[in-house]
Amino acid sequence: MQRQVEKNCEGPEMSLVCLTDFQARARERLSKSTWDFIDGGADDSFTRDDNIAAFKRIRLRPRFLKDVSKVDTRTTIQGKEISAPICIAPMGFHCLAWPDGEMSTARAAQAAGICYITSTYASCTLENIVTAAPSGLRWFQLYVQPDRQLTKQLIQRAESLGFKALVITVDVPIVGNRRHDIRNKLDLKMNLLLKDLQSPKERDSIPRLQMSAIDPSICWNDLSWFQSITQLPIILKGILTKEDAELAVKHNVHGIIVSNHGGRQLDEVAASIDALTEVVTAVQGKLEVYLDGGIRTGNDVLKALALGAKCVFVGRPILWGLACEGEHGVQEVLNILKKELHTSMTLTGCRSVAEITQDLVQFPRL
Ligand code: FNR
Repeated sequence: MQRQVEKNCEGPEMSLVCLTDFQARARERLSKSTWDFIDGGADDSFTRDDNIAAFKRIRLRPRFLKDVSKVDTRTTIQGKEISAPICIAPMGFHCLAWPDGEMSTARAAQAAGICYITSTYASCTLENIVTAAPSGLRWFQLYVQPDRQLTKQLIQRAESLGFKALVITVDVPIVGNRRHDIRNKLDLKMNLLLKDLQSPKERDSIPRLQMSAIDPSICWNDLSWFQSITQLPIILKGILTKEDAELAVKHNVHGIIVSNHGGRQLDEVAASIDALTEVVTAVQGKLEVYLDGGIRTGNDVLKALALGAKCVFVGRPILWGLACEGEHGVQEVLNILKKELHTSMTLTGCRSVAEITQDLVQFPRL
């Protein structure tokens, strides 16, 4: 792996050995408006930054003398095996970072043996993504469209293409206030890239001038409609409170992604890792809980699992990898995180993911 990493570099001092190295390199490679779009948070970006800082407030409690000569990072999500509890969060517009966009991401995810959540706002069609990586584990992320017929078609298309879960994003009744994107007037450029929300005729003609709207009227009662039109397990992405977690259990969903959208929606909500315990406690093991937001190292992954997440999803670092080296860059980002998790597990005395338990972490008094 070391050799592969160095292959990306102009000199040995430029080795990309951790995720923040990819961040710096991606920033150099992308236009300002694309960088701002990927990097930005809502309003003051307080929550975006706290997602990362909150992990660093948690300390580890390693255990020793446990024979860690063999460490296994494999686990399952919704009954499917993944090589490590590190998967790819849904993000729109991968073509902004790399010409092949989501096709490269899907290939890298398939090679890594992990799950890739494809966004409604993918810039490649679902069909092309599936063709690029036919045996990869994929979930489909839905932004509910005001046109319910279009929404239904999208879900059923994803299901027939072999996506294994429906991830409904609940924290975007409207798009958060992202100051850079407003300054950079990004909308039209994004529209040009939307493929799945255009009819084949539209794809070849002039795109709509507005980013396709998200339905702000969706509510808990609508979940039964989704359950009636698909066999797929339903995961809610963006839950942050015990009240909503209890409602999710009551409405028979199969999973929750604790997430604040990478701090891109409502600023000044809790960091994802700080909201995790409340949600895990509320669901009482009745559904799987996952987390995204601020995952940048193997220690972060370990901490999230210790606090009850079944796996984590990684956002921005995937686009950094894509911007640096396409498919290979995404593979490297995933490899580095997986290797770091392996090291974290070994040094804390965890031989398997099941051994990553709450007594591995502590919250020092500040
Ligand atoms: C996102 N996110 C997102 N979420 C979603 O449900 N659908 C989407 O289309 C997108 N698009 C998107 C684009 C970009 C550029 C970013 C950075 C994020 C949110 C994403 O799934 C995830 O919640 C966060 O990115 C996780 O935080 P980190 O890992 O980026 O800190």
